[in-house]
Amino acid sequence: MTTVLIANGPNLNRLGTREPDKYGSTSYDELAALCMQWGAEQGLEVVMRQTNDESELVEWMHQAVDSQWGVVLNPAAFTHYSYALRDACAMVTGADLLLIEVHLTNPHTREEFRHTSVVSGVATGTIAGFGTDSYRLALSAIAGQ
Ligand code: DQA
Repeated sequence: MTTVLIANGPNLNRLGTREPDKYGSTSYDELAALCMQWGAEQGLEVVMRQTNDESELVEWMHQAVDSQWGVVLNPAAFTHYSYALRDACAMVTGADLLLIEVHLTNPHTREEFRHTSVVSGVATGTIAGFGTDSYRLALSAIAGQ
């Protein structure tokens, strides 16, 4: 069975109460339950994690390489400036593993600093702007490979 790490970056643990006009009213725990369900429906084993710590995200990318896991990554604000995370993501796709960058919102419709993703250039693909469905679509993309 394919294992997929869903890795979530800073502030996503506050989903549901954080700017619900932008990020919706689904809590992180509810999103986690949905992702486990969507993964099971697609025959995927899902490992769901969230951290506010850049180094932890980097370590998780290393673990994905070592364990041969596909990755669904919402890098949150690290999207826009973390070269360390970008380099770690490059190791994932460099190992021929899928890495789908996801965003709840479409960063290109928002503030200018969100228009840059330092991760996109080393991701397999990006899905943004579909709310929690961005995660479902990313899992389908991995299951369809
Ligand atoms: C986000 C978009 C980022 O710009 C922001 O910093 C986030 C969430 C999204 O899912 O839409 O924290 O990644």
